[in-house]
Amino acid sequence: MARILTLTLNPALDLTIRLARLEAGEVNRSETMLTHAAGKGVNVAQVLADLGHQVTVGGFLGEDNPQAFDALIARRGFADAFIRVPGETRSNIKIAEQDGRVTDINAPGPQVSEQAQRALLEKLVQMAPGFDAVVVAGSLPRGVSPQWFQHLLAQLKNLGLKVALDTSGEALRAGLQAGPWLVKPNTEELAEALGNAPDAISQLHRLGVEHVVVSDGAAGVNWYRPGAALHATPPKVTVASTVGAGDSLLAGMLHGLLSGDIPEQTLLRATAIAAMAVTQIGFGISDDAQLARLESGVDVRTLTEQ
Ligand SMILES: Nc1ncnc2c1ncn2[C@@H]1O[C@H](COP(=O)(O)OP(=O)(O)OP(=O)(O)O)[C@@H](O)[C@H]1O
Ligand SMILES: [Mg+2]
Repeated sequence: MARILTLTLNPALDLTIRLARLEAGEVNRSETMLTHAAGKGVNVAQVLADLGHQVTVGGFLGEDNPQAFDALIARRGFADAFIRVPGETRSNIKIAEQDGRVTDINAPGPQVSEQAQRALLEKLVQMAPGFDAVVVAGSLPRGVSPQWFQHLLAQLKNLGLKVALDTSGEALRAGLQAGPWLVKPNTEELAEALGNAPDAISQLHRLGVEHVVVSDGAAGVNWYRPGAALHATPPKVTVASTVGAGDSLLAGMLHGLLSGDIPEQTLLRATAIAAMAVTQIGFGISDDAQLARLESGVDVRTLTEQ
């Protein structure tokens, strides 16, 4: 069991509304409406907890609507390292229609002041010795610059933590400069961050990134370490929802790496955990026997060309 901190700087309340058909501009009646605490670091935390790790969740949380997060933190037994900021944590609304169409409306989060950013850094300096690794995942809230984000990652690294990064765009570009221990972009995020450079992977290794885990949806995962690379092909599964697939893959990779599993087993299990996420509306490890079946359907092989 490892002690892991996950940081979600811009968490969200996912609000899923199901209805037969959305009529724009009309009064619509929903069949069900579900709210749950989300955000990439919070999702990773839940899968890590399923895998038996001791997890602390942190980042910034709006102080006006903490109920769903407080309930999740209590239910999962997480330690709480969130800095409360004025305002409401944003809501991401998903309108799911009977024909499978999903409309997303993502709200902006609260403005995060420099004072709150300093408070988080101070808290991390105090807490760092208690952790084996830190996951920093998701987008940046309003008020947080890519430069500050890079500084945060560099500080975490200087504090001796293994830093795993999963973000996109400007935040990814800036974060990579801090040379995190592990990154998990998908193919598009990596191409966008490094401008389709043919030597993208070696650039990352030169920046000090030891583990480059590039996910590519149903096509699987490439994992590049200096001097070694593996590819995993997931089993064919019926997709219920891909929400949390990337977060599950990241949690699975951390699990194997921090447990000292051999690389092939680490990637195989992580790929099965991600496949399990897509077979359900939510994500997480609900059924060990199903996970074992999925593991037996993963193909891991050595990548020769780099
Ligand atoms: N249809 C699928 N069948 C099996 N496995 C899948 C499927 N889609 C995704 N996965 C698994 O989940 C992993 C992560 O998916 P993906 O590359 O889409 O991540 P992502 O783009 O980061 O997603 P997220 O929206 O969660 O951030 C893939 O590498 C793969 O192992
Ligand atoms: Mg992702």
